[in-house]
Amino acid sequence: MSTVKIAELLREAAARLPGEDARHEAEQLLLHTLGVERAWLFAHATDEVAPADQERFELLLQRRVEGHPLAYLVGRRGFWTLDLEVNVATLIPRPETELLVEQALARLPADDMVRVADMGTGSGAIALSIASERPLATVMATDVLGPTLAVAVKNAQAHGLENVWFRRGHWYTALGADRFDMIVSNPPYIAAGDPHLQQGDLRFEPPPALASGADGLDAIREIISGAHEHLVPGGWLLLEHGWDQGPAIRELLEQAGFVGAQTVQDMEQRDRVTLGRLAV
Ligand SMILES: C[S@@+](CC[C@H](N)C(=O)[O-])C[C@H]1O[C@@H](n2cnc3c(N)ncnc32)[C@H](O)[C@@H]1O
Repeated sequence: MSTVKIAELLREAAARLPGEDARHEAEQLLLHTLGVERAWLFAHATDEVAPADQERFELLLQRRVEGHPLAYLVGRRGFWTLDLEVNVATLIPRPETELLVEQALARLPADDMVRVADMGTGSGAIALSIASERPLATVMATDVLGPTLAVAVKNAQAHGLENVWFRRGHWYTALGADRFDMIVSNPPYIAAGDPHLQQGDLRFEPPPALASGADGLDAIREIISGAHEHLVPGGWLLLEHGWDQGPAIRELLEQAGFVGAQTVQDMEQRDRVTLGRLAV
């Protein structure tokens, strides 16, 4: 293999990647390969890349060209203020989910020892963000998949968050008889036959993190119908969901004894989070 300089390698790699982010993605893959910071890359732009590093970079690049998500290839994704480990057992946290964190924090006093449950925690994105912003809160993070929960535990440890606890199990079975001031969840909500499941990053993400029944609402129905047994009176339930599911979820909340059900839109003016308060 002939030697090549860092700047040249990056240029060639960016030309092989599709999309507007090609240059940024090529940099991320090279940073990961070399285990260096971005500033180092530019200070050493004319350095030659060792053949072994070139080979490892080429493998990553090929996988990215095939469509493997960048976050899985580099094993990390930023969410809220946290840099999180991710792998093929976890959903890749989405920026839209930060809206759920914002809405949760707006209802969680900073000076109270509130109890919060994040069901279907994945990498821990929501639970750890809340725990980091509300040190007095106790956050219970659950997931049905053991390998997924293991990543969330590692992320909590990496960020030194000691107010998060973890349990594995199917929705409320993981919570036992415990009650919370707030339950948050970004559950699977895509309809099983939705063609988007065969596109983009979704092709590589764990199916239990994505699809939920014929209309995508199976998990949400289960979470709403069981909430009264795990919330204190006046407790909050906040759910992330698809752009067209807001009205159905508000109706489900009202039928289940929630008051003030409302849907909040994301930055692209699409319905994204629906929430309600259990009647006192
Ligand atoms: C859409 S992902 C959300 C992950 C993470 N909360 C986030 O926002 O990035 C849904 C998560 O729910 C979990 N899940 C699916 N079915 C579940 C069940 N029956 N009980 C508990 N968790 C479940 C999946 O493993 C996945 O981690």
